[in-house]
Amino acid sequence: MSLSGKALLAGVIGWPIGHSRSPRLHGFWLESYGIDGAYLPLAVAPEKLEVAVRGLQASGFRGLNVTIPHKEAVMALCDRVDERARRIGAVNTMVFENGEIHGSNSDAFGFLENLKAGTGGRDLSTAPALLLGAGGAARAVAVALLDAGLPEVLLCNRSAERAERLAADLGPRVRLVPWAERAEALAGLGLLVNSTSLGMNGQPPLDLPLKRLPAEAVVSDLVYTPLETGLLTAARAKGCVAVDGLGMLLHQARPGFQAWFGKAPAVTPALREFVLKDA
Ligand SMILES: NC(=O)c1ccc[n+]([C@@H]2O[C@H](COP(=O)([O-])OP(=O)(O)OC[C@H]3O[C@@H](n4cnc5c(N)ncnc54)[C@H](OP(=O)(O)O)[C@@H]3O)[C@@H](O)[C@H]2O)c1
Repeated sequence: MSLSGKALLAGVIGWPIGHSRSPRLHGFWLESYGIDGAYLPLAVAPEKLEVAVRGLQASGFRGLNVTIPHKEAVMALCDRVDERARRIGAVNTMVFENGEIHGSNSDAFGFLENLKAGTGGRDLSTAPALLLGAGGAARAVAVALLDAGLPEVLLCNRSAERAERLAADLGPRVRLVPWAERAEALAGLGLLVNSTSLGMNGQPPLDLPLKRLPAEAVVSDLVYTPLETGLLTAARAKGCVAVDGLGMLLHQARPGFQAWFGKAPAVTPALREFVLKDA
């Protein structure tokens, strides 16, 4: 679609940026809704972060998504960072408004919306969850689960110090489980979430027999390459509801698109197909 001189502009900054699916995803919505706007992949080296953000702000951009390695560093450039992003410790969405930068993090929102869509809105607040991983994605999922009212989040990560730091940041509803005890910890769970990179193409598989996991539990994998991970296949074989990671990527994009382009976008099967074609 051709752009007018009044086109609304946004983009994603990262280093490198070539792997990002966000331009394809936002491009699909811009095209579908006939919006006079563009969403660009922007390769920004860490030492150029501030000058690039200020330059885009000064050029009339409506805002940006932020990906690796800038999610923590951009917090210092924001005039306001919302409470959830502060708790997660990272910003992935910036809105430029009235000369100010507002930072937020839509990963927790994306995770919960995907879970809602994948389970038909099942209430998961009555049983504990086990969260595998303690990296950037796990931080967002842990905050999401606490905000959703789960009684307890069991946190299990290969390196204990990283899990201890996350648990200390998030308070008493987070309980640590040693990595070696992950299979035993499955008993009585309502939800199991993999937010490690295990199971991803090119990474080792997640070694976790699901014998003790209740068949009523929901299993969510953040990994979406492949879409059907070994964990999800094993979960389905047990009769568990299995939720893949692609939906989180799609849903987390909604708040930014709405803020920049003024339209609440929908996550549809056609969008999933379109983004998957690039996977
Ligand atoms: N669906 C989505 O929208 C979405 C969003 C964000 C991320 N993700 C996916 O989530 C995964 C994690 O992303 P991230 O940003 O959190 O990465 P990260 O910060 O690098 O964290 C990686 C996590 O994986 C664990 N890990 C890596 N190799 C391991 C191994 N061999 N054995 C045990 N644990 C291992 C790490 O444990 P240690 O701390 O011990 O190293 C850490 O907990 C990636 O696959 C990413 O693609 C998906």
